[in-house]
Amino acid sequence: MALKLAVLVSGSGSNLQSIIDRIEDGSLDAEIRLVLSNKPDAYGLTRAEKHGLPTVALDHTAYASREDFDAAMVQKINASGAEVVVLAGFMRLLTPVFIDAFATIVNIHPALLPSFAGCHGQRDAAGYGVKISGATVHFVDEIMDHGPVIIQAAVPVLSGEDGDSLGARILEFEHRIYPQALQWLAQGRISLKDRHVLLAEAGIPKAALCAHGLVNPPLEDGF
Ligand code: GRF
Repeated sequence: MALKLAVLVSGSGSNLQSIIDRIEDGSLDAEIRLVLSNKPDAYGLTRAEKHGLPTVALDHTAYASREDFDAAMVQKINASGAEVVVLAGFMRLLTPVFIDAFATIVNIHPALLPSFAGCHGQRDAAGYGVKISGATVHFVDEIMDHGPVIIQAAVPVLSGEDGDSLGARILEFEHRIYPQALQWLAQGRISLKDRHVLLAEAGIPKAALCAHGLVNPPLEDGF
């Protein structure tokens, strides 16, 4: 059965687009029940509408507190029937009102966590001078950019590169690893042991697991 998603966006929604594309080409067994944004003018909402997906805009500035805003989002998401909440460039801190309401919330971060958490992962990594950065898909817990890691992609930082340039190359990997992580969830292949995410291999030959050195766990066909 297709995994029922609520995707939360604040901006461009290119990660949302990658999820839509993988659903439409059949490599991701999911359905998007709702695309929700805290920014009524987010381009992510337009992308969703172009694909006939249900959207909701909840302007966070209209709420008296973070908790009130989170409660309104919880209500909309629950009404949609979504079972997994997918944060895809959603730029609001979430309170326990939201975190405690859902069994599964995932996020993508444009750095190799736990390095360079926060709102400017690409810029901070480029500014620090690391030689390798990347992207991380992780479960969300009560601490920002902290929950168990599902998949990471490593991206080399080029000499003299700024955050924008690095971020653009990281984004290409984001568009591959996020749908892949969701497909593993859809397949029921992910389990947690303490904060370690375990992936059942589903009969993939061992040789194939060594094929992609920079993405771990390795990408599978279609991603
Ligand atoms: C991505 O870099 C994501 O990792 C970060 O915000 C950005 C969102 O981009 N959390 P988009 O809206 O998916 O294009």
